[in-house]
Amino acid sequence: MIEDIIYISKKAGEIIREAFGKNIFVEFKTNESNLVTEVDKRSEQTIIEFIKKKYPQHGILAEEGSGSNVDSDVVWVIDPLDGTTNYAHRLPIFSVSIGVQKNGETIAGVVYDVMQDIIYSAELNSGAYLNSKRMRVSETSLLSRALLVTGFPYHIAENPENAFKRFEVLTKASRGMRRLGSAAIDFCYLADGVFDGFWEVSLNPWDMCAGKLIVEESGGLVTDFDGSPMTIYSKRMLASNGKIHGQMVELLMSQ
Ligand code: IPD
Ligand code: CA
Ligand code: CA
Repeated sequence: MIEDIIYISKKAGEIIREAFGKNIFVEFKTNESNLVTEVDKRSEQTIIEFIKKKYPQHGILAEEGSGSNVDSDVVWVIDPLDGTTNYAHRLPIFSVSIGVQKNGETIAGVVYDVMQDIIYSAELNSGAYLNSKRMRVSETSLLSRALLVTGFPYHIAENPENAFKRFEVLTKASRGMRRLGSAAIDFCYLADGVFDGFWEVSLNPWDMCAGKLIVEESGGLVTDFDGSPMTIYSKRMLASNGKIHGQMVELLMSQ
C-alpha cells in the first residue's frame, strides 16, 4: 500500500509543481489569511479519484471537503497541498501529505516535498525514510542548543492557547525558532534530525496524520503540550527528539 500512497503523492505533486508561479485562481476560506487555490482542489481530486478506483471500500477525510465513508475501518487522511500560503506567494516550501489509519491507528504516512522532489515515508513499526535513507531524530539533549520550529493557525490573531507567549518563552530558551509554513514538512525535518522540536496549536488531522507517524518511526515523540498522548484530532501538538521533550513540556505548561 505504501507504494500506492507514494505513487499518488507524486502524481498530485506534479500537478502542483506544474502550476507553481503561474497565474492561479485563489479564494479566501475563513479570512484573508486562509487561502485555497484551484491547485489544492485539483490535487485533492486526483488523489480521491485514485482511492475511489483502487480502494472503493476505504474512507476519505480530506481538507478540501472530499469526505466519504469515514466510518470505514481504513481511512485516508489527506492534505492535498500543505503550505498553500507559501504556494500562493511563490515560496517553494509546500507538500502533499497523506496518512492512512486503520481502526484509528495510523499505519502508513507519506509527505512529498514537491519542489525538492523528496519522499518522506513511514509504515507502522518499520521505520521512516527520506527517499531510501533511514531517518533518525537528533541527539540534542539541551534546549539551549536546540533548533525549534512552529507554525500559526489562521485565527492566530485571537492568540489561541496563549500561542504568542509560548512562542516568546521557547524562542528565548532555544537556539532559534523557525516558521516554515508547512506543518507536514516541519514534522519531516524533525524526523531527519534537522529540527530538534516542533510545537503548534490548532493543527488539523490532515496536517498531522502522516507527519506524526514519520516522527515516531524516526524515534521521536509526539504528545500534547503536557506530555500526555495525543491523537490527530488534538489541538495542542508537541513533537521532539524525545531528549528535550521534558524541557519543552515544562516551558509550554508554564504559560
Ligand atoms: C497550514 C500549514 C502551516 C500551519 C497551518 C496550516 P495549509 O496548512 O501546515 O504550516 O501553520 O496551521 O493550516 O492550510 O497550508 O494546508
Ligand atoms: Ca495543512
Ligand atoms: Ca492544505
